[in-house]
Amino acid sequence: MTAKPKVWVSRPLFPDVLARLAQYFDVDAEAVERRHSAEELKRKLAGVDAAVLGLTDRVDAAVLEGNQRLRVVANLGVGFNNLDIDALTRAGVLASNTPDVLNESVADFAWALMLAAARRVGAAERWLRAGHWPGSHMRFDDWLGLDLHGRTLGILGMGRIGRGVARRAAGFDMRVLYHNRSRLPDEVERECGAALVSKAELLRQADFLVLVLPFTRENRHAIGAPELAQMKPSAVLVNIARGGIVDDAALAAALREGRLAAAGLDVFEDEPNVHPDLLTLDNVVLCPHIASASEETRRAMASLAADNVVAALGYGEVAGKPPTPLNPAVMARWTASKA
Ligand code: GLV
Repeated sequence: MTAKPKVWVSRPLFPDVLARLAQYFDVDAEAVERRHSAEELKRKLAGVDAAVLGLTDRVDAAVLEGNQRLRVVANLGVGFNNLDIDALTRAGVLASNTPDVLNESVADFAWALMLAAARRVGAAERWLRAGHWPGSHMRFDDWLGLDLHGRTLGILGMGRIGRGVARRAAGFDMRVLYHNRSRLPDEVERECGAALVSKAELLRQADFLVLVLPFTRENRHAIGAPELAQMKPSAVLVNIARGGIVDDAALAAALREGRLAAAGLDVFEDEPNVHPDLLTLDNVVLCPHIASASEETRRAMASLAADNVVAALGYGEVAGKPPTPLNPAVMARWTASKA
């Protein structure tokens, strides 16, 4: 009898998903959440056929060097800027991500951050919990925030999540503008109630600017000091995409100096470290990269990652057809080399 393929799961995962993997594989699942160094990743990946990885696991050519065994890495996230896809392809390793299953939850969360930042929910809650309410003689004109209804929502990056954010704007009676590499088909624009404008126009007109673009080399600091300077001082910026798309130091300066009204951030340049200046400001809502973290969605993401491993390694109902591969062409090469 041949030994079961070995799968490493780099972070704690739902027990039922681990049990599914264990039907087919010899599973080594980390019981504690922590960061793995490049050396540790290299060592772990050298001893397995597949791995389920988190967004903090960075896999590049150095980590893969000399690895003859690994065939699949399944990323727990739609973004995959932690993976060097070219290096994985060269090494004959299939990569997968978790698109679509998180679209609606992440779109919901963009609205959570917009509302919280505009209406000062975080600051008000901190004030209440600190016991300031009794005896404060809170005034009628204290805690004034910004309305969303009737304002202009700008969306930078109009993929499936961006469209979900846009569709929700109808309920708030907002005008929606977007900027994207390519124009959406007419019927999608109609469904989202959104109009394409240049990036400069988006920055100039948006009362709420939501970032939903993927993190690529070109998108680093897509919102930096020059872009912030083009925005209205009354505007609110929301980043649910990736840290690094925003220049956090420039953003903190704009928020501190009243050049931008507020921000809601789920992602940061140096996660899990947050720029110290942001931590001192009351007009920014800070969350620890949780936009997809609803019970249903995180379960769906974990299941999809597992489905990719199971199918890619030739098991389950759709053996040989992983549902969401990023570089499917590598599988054709396996028969010759790694099978
Ligand atoms: C989360 O940030 C993801 O990419 O899914």
